[in-house]
Amino acid sequence: MKVNITETVLRDAQQSLIATRMPFSDFEGILETLDNAGYYSLECWGGATFDSCLRYLDEDPWERLRKIKAVCKKTPLQMLIRGQNILGYKHYPDDVVRLFCRKAAENGMDIFRIFDALNDFRNIEVCIDEVKKCGKHAQGCICYTTSPVHTIAKYIEMGKELEKMGVDSIAIKDMAGICGPQEAYDLVKALKSEVKVPIFFHTHHTTGLGPITYTKAVEAGVDGIDCAISTMAGGTSQPATETMKYALEQLGYETSLDMDKLKQIADFFAPVRKKFLDSGRLNPTVMGIKADILKYQVPGGMLSNMIANLTDMHAMDRFDEALAEIPNVRKDMGYPPLVTPMSQMVGNQAVTNVLVGERYKNISKEIKAYLRGEYGRAPGEINQELVAKCWKPEELVTGRYADSLEPLFEKTKKELGSKARSDEDVLSYIAFPQVAEKFFEAREEKESNTVTYTIEKKED
Ligand code: CO
Repeated sequence: MKVNITETVLRDAQQSLIATRMPFSDFEGILETLDNAGYYSLECWGGATFDSCLRYLDEDPWERLRKIKAVCKKTPLQMLIRGQNILGYKHYPDDVVRLFCRKAAENGMDIFRIFDALNDFRNIEVCIDEVKKCGKHAQGCICYTTSPVHTIAKYIEMGKELEKMGVDSIAIKDMAGICGPQEAYDLVKALKSEVKVPIFFHTHHTTGLGPITYTKAVEAGVDGIDCAISTMAGGTSQPATETMKYALEQLGYETSLDMDKLKQIADFFAPVRKKFLDSGRLNPTVMGIKADILKYQVPGGMLSNMIANLTDMHAMDRFDEALAEIPNVRKDMGYPPLVTPMSQMVGNQAVTNVLVGERYKNISKEIKAYLRGEYGRAPGEINQELVAKCWKPEELVTGRYADSLEPLFEKTKKELGSKARSDEDVLSYIAFPQVAEKFFEAREEKESNTVTYTIEKKED
């Protein structure tokens, strides 16, 4: 049996370890080897890579994609997209979602892993539809979490729904790395018996469970897993590619990965990793194993966010109380998966509830919007008293939120005028307005400097 391996070094691995700060020049020299190593796909694009290119790296994310594609012609390129939120956290109208997918496909994207933080599939249907229309691979995502409403039966229902929506494959996305080996086995086994499309599994090494969980998922028949090359693996990143290849082949599975090429890739990234360690961007603490997460069932990013907030407020002595409040808030919210932005929203509300001393005396504006239904449908029952406290029944969003949004693309294009040089620029601006605007200005400036330089040279 063949197990497909997706390499995450260009997206999730560097996002998890070094806050997505890897410039194109750091990996340009290894793209050809990556393309020839036998991977199922190369994950290379997503919200954070896109944002970071514009914000910190002075790179046009679209150009990066084209440059990767120019070298990686054999291996499909893969991206992570938040359905109706495309790359961010707010909902965009359908014209933007469709054009974004089309432009990503035109610029070289092949596999679109599409998710909604609440698993509200109304928020990914337009995205799936457009990806299919572009003739590309639409991978529907199930965000994995544990709660009284997240049963195997519920996950099967989601899998069937995705299949009905026409996805080419399904990914189980365990963003917190909390899915244990038996849970993975049971979930994959159940899905494999009920849906026909291939199933992929995504986890992180954060709790140390990753390789064991992958092994059991493979035993249950999973079609593919996400790994990161060893020098950029482990900790909050993915389990190591070479380790999984070695173990799976020993267990009698094929991976079609070339060990010599993997060695070259690992060697290539060793000095890159060292550079980020030396600069302090790669903090050795993210490389370790966080067993706390297994105890609290709270993602690592959410824990560190809470610790930072409480430390700022000189209230770390209330940490245990705040942690204990998380399950209560989560229950009131109808058990959303603790993925960004829900993880921060739930964490902050739990801290507020504890520090104010009265539950929901202060409710954040994000939680209010969530209670209104702006993020989509909650997995379970939301506390109706809380909803009534914030909104009148006629104010609630019951349909698909994006249906209430006016088309945005042409209007924005007109407003931007000559600042945007392409439809891709307009999309960058819609996704990250301030950051993109700064990027456009810097680009102008750089080019006018180049022009001056050329003229001066001529005069010499
Ligand atoms: Co991930």
